[in-house]
Amino acid sequence: MAKSKTQFVCQSCGSVSPRWSGRCDSCGEWNTLVEERGESGVGAAPAARRMETGHAVELVALAGDAQEAPRIASGIAELDRVTGGGFVPGSALLVGGDPGIGKSTLLTQAAAALARGGHSVVYVSGEEAVAQVRLRAKRLAAVEENIGLAAETSVENILATLKAGEPPALLIIDSIQTLWTDTVESAPGSVTQVRASAQALIRYAKRHGTILVLVGHVTKDGQIAGPRVVEHMVDAVLYFEGEGGHHFRILRTVKNRFGPTDEIGVFEMSDGGLKEVENPSELFLGERNANAPGAAVFAGMEGTRPVLVEIQALVAPSSLATPRRAVVGWDSSRLAMVLAVLEAHCGVRLGQHDVYLNVAGGYRIMEPAADLAVSAALISSLAGVPLPVQSVYFGEISLSGATRPVSHAPARLKEAEKLGFGRAILPAGSMARNNGKTKAAAPSGLELVEISELADLAGRILARASPTPEAGV
Ligand code: TYD
Ligand code: MG
Repeated sequence: MAKSKTQFVCQSCGSVSPRWSGRCDSCGEWNTLVEERGESGVGAAPAARRMETGHAVELVALAGDAQEAPRIASGIAELDRVTGGGFVPGSALLVGGDPGIGKSTLLTQAAAALARGGHSVVYVSGEEAVAQVRLRAKRLAAVEENIGLAAETSVENILATLKAGEPPALLIIDSIQTLWTDTVESAPGSVTQVRASAQALIRYAKRHGTILVLVGHVTKDGQIAGPRVVEHMVDAVLYFEGEGGHHFRILRTVKNRFGPTDEIGVFEMSDGGLKEVENPSELFLGERNANAPGAAVFAGMEGTRPVLVEIQALVAPSSLATPRRAVVGWDSSRLAMVLAVLEAHCGVRLGQHDVYLNVAGGYRIMEPAADLAVSAALISSLAGVPLPVQSVYFGEISLSGATRPVSHAPARLKEAEKLGFGRAILPAGSMARNNGKTKAAAPSGLELVEISELADLAGRILARASPTPEAGV
């Protein structure tokens, strides 16, 4: 009896299951299994074929020479920094981001920059009509000679078009979710379609030395929608992020086979497109009130991505029998613990005060590494002394009042330095812990203040309240 060709493919992780169920066994997501026809998907066997069609490949020594990947720099410094020094010919890049964040704008500008450098570019838009793309290019002053433009969603048509001419240096697909290919039967936008389309384009790029840039949509919780499988297929994954109501945009590397993954590029969205921000600290500090007590900058991490956020605290005498504690963006039981440690070990009395804690920008901190920054903000608000604007804080606090190093100290410091901060207050031993035996080098532009007891931090902040000159924190 012939086997049934119907299968269920998880739209989140791409795993294949013979039966429908409400929850994917592989990634645990709910309602992501969709019926698709044909033997495809992760774990599916290739179509039956006779065995003798393969041919021998030459095995080479692992110890052979390897050259640094040649690169084509775009000339947009913030973009080149994120890609690790420029695009690598034959590589595939995925640029993810929320709708309207500026992905098409960024790539139009990158296309124009490469075209100006004499490289040929093909821009395929699956979302917008030719006229719309032209209008945007005009607005960005990105109308260049050697950019070919097409509004197309069929992979076969795109490949046929490319094969008719010289392979371009840069191929931009905006976006991968709109593409579909005849080779698989499932609906456009499904994981199987997206994977097959990406595979065909990546194969073309590798064969012809073309730089392939795929645009991917991001869901609300920050995943590249559906085709997370594409993240594994490409050489680099960049995220384009921004906060609602702000003009700045951050381009972040999540994965890069040809460069570092802890770089960020900062842009500002203006009438004339994205402008590079050479000194991002101005942008971030510009929105802060340097003289306000109760604000501390926390050097945090989100997964492998460093994030700097401002933690704001307001401590005010309470008229209530049970003082109010309100927290936005952090764990309230964690705040209770920090308050208890401050009270027990540092002599900071908050029992008669209302405490409000807010993480700026609607951001939510999930890690305990914010303890030190929260403490600094609380003490600063209670004492009425602003913290120095150039300081960032991170580190965990134990119930004994000692500080504990947290992971990724070098990445946090690097981000702080990149954003223009000059001093970091961190637990003693942070640098030694993070690199095993050898001490990791701290970024040269950053002064490190290592603290082993929370009481030490409290003492330093309170010393600023008195007129005696004292080392800052
Ligand atoms: P876009 O690149 O279309 O976003 P995406 O491709 O990520 O969906 O950018 C959309 C937003 O950017 C839109 O709200 C308008 C704004 N924008 C500017 O502010 N200035 C500009 O020069 C351009 C082209 C867009
Ligand atoms: Mg777009």
